[in-house]
Amino acid sequence: MKKLINISLSEIKISELTKLKSEALIVTFYESKKISDITDIFDKKSKGVIKKLISRNELSGSLGNKVYLPNLNGTNSEKVYFLGCGKKDKEMSEQEFLSLSEKIASAAIQSNVKNVHIYLPALAIKGRTEDWNFKILARTLEASCYKYFFKGKKAQSKNILSKVTLLKNVDKKGLTTFNKALKIGHVIGVGMNTSRELANTPANICTPTFLASQAKKLSKSFPIIKTKILGEKEMKKIGMDCLLSVGNGSAQESKFIIMQYSGAAKTKKPNIIVGKGITFDTGGISIKPSPAMDEMKYDMTGSASVVGTMRAIAEIKPKSNIIGVIASAENMPSSTATKPGDVVKTLSGQTVEILNTDAEGRLVLCDALTYVERFNPANVIDIATLTGACVVALGHEATGMLSNDQTLADNILESGYASCDRAWQLPLWDSYQDALDSRYADIANIGGRAGAITAACFLSRFAKKYNWAHLDIAGTAYGGKIGKKSSGRPVPLLTEYLLSQK
Ligand code: BES
Ligand code: MN
Ligand code: ZN
Repeated sequence: MKKLINISLSEIKISELTKLKSEALIVTFYESKKISDITDIFDKKSKGVIKKLISRNELSGSLGNKVYLPNLNGTNSEKVYFLGCGKKDKEMSEQEFLSLSEKIASAAIQSNVKNVHIYLPALAIKGRTEDWNFKILARTLEASCYKYFFKGKKAQSKNILSKVTLLKNVDKKGLTTFNKALKIGHVIGVGMNTSRELANTPANICTPTFLASQAKKLSKSFPIIKTKILGEKEMKKIGMDCLLSVGNGSAQESKFIIMQYSGAAKTKKPNIIVGKGITFDTGGISIKPSPAMDEMKYDMTGSASVVGTMRAIAEIKPKSNIIGVIASAENMPSSTATKPGDVVKTLSGQTVEILNTDAEGRLVLCDALTYVERFNPANVIDIATLTGACVVALGHEATGMLSNDQTLADNILESGYASCDRAWQLPLWDSYQDALDSRYADIANIGGRAGAITAACFLSRFAKKYNWAHLDIAGTAYGGKIGKKSSGRPVPLLTEYLLSQK
């Protein structure tokens, strides 16, 4: 996925705003009883247009208030948008700033021109420095320009926005820090779009082999990432029978993908992210009902977020070691498919009784979690559309998070707040573990009531040798307010977390 737009930052004095020749100028400003210094400039030049809009209660500066003025007198820009950002003395929350950013981006796209200028005042976000704003805004601008294109659908219009210039009354030092934040935010947006494009691609195209080729393609563009692919033969040889059992019913070959980014000395322990890559989940022999089964093409979103995050990391180039791993298979029913009651051996040596073939995510992830022990990781995070139960518990707002290490858990929670891509912790108490007792194997693949927790309990049995956290993104990968579209989550959370690890 290429960058969709160009984003840059320019220094400006507010008195120059009306002189600027722009195709579209978006001015964000504070709500105030009197006219603000910014709106005052436009009011004077236009001989009272702004005051008139204020007196009619059309222009208020309240958070999200938007007024569009084509051909505003005394202003050189062709289209002007005024966007309110709320009261100056009231600190905004992260989430409020994200939604303001979305409004700015939607005005930029709506303006239907190639080059947009955006003026930003100094906005105070509780607990964040001002460069944070630029990170979020740049990412939102890039992410908002993404549209999924598929050859089957005709007459789709493309966004024509190609260049955004942010304007700010700022000194040289500010320019440097803000530019750095802009760049990071921008590539996080590209990473989100990379993830969304993969997740939106239908399962007849996006197969495990396709995922592997996309990972290879990424390391071709960014040679700092080395990619290795294991096919079924290689996996069989080392004993990844549990992962392989999921693809038994499919004509598509299962793949195990390892993407290694080396930004520090070999001796430095890597952070590892492991994605569930079920390119389609029919449920297998424990087949799912037909309604909404098409959504199970999103069952590889965990792996898409790994690719998207690695894409962002490759551009930011932090001085650390990061490994992205993808466990990919297609879960189909057929005469060769795994059956309920089958017992398989995992790479760890533990045996699993597969009581439900629809609890397949944990079966591919467990072997991946064992595999990554060889890297002697600092921390391991797996990302998976793992359980419908997690959607019941948290809806589409928060990613479910469970961990065997509270420091790691706390870091992930904070990264979630800092990236407006929030997670919420669920308990991983030992008392939930008995639900997985099996009559015929070391462990059963289902059991108990708290589905999101028992799924994590299953995984925890394979993550005993390192600090580990599990992200259940069944609710946040797609759906909810954004509809049947990939959200790009949790690329922001993952990137934020990885960059925070020195
Ligand atoms: N991929 C599904 C989970 C899922 C459900 C993701 C809805 C997104 C939206 C997963 O493989 C699955 O089928 N889980 C089962 C587990 C059950 C059989 C223990 C579930 O949640 O019903
Ligand atoms: Mn399933
Ligand atoms: Zn699944």
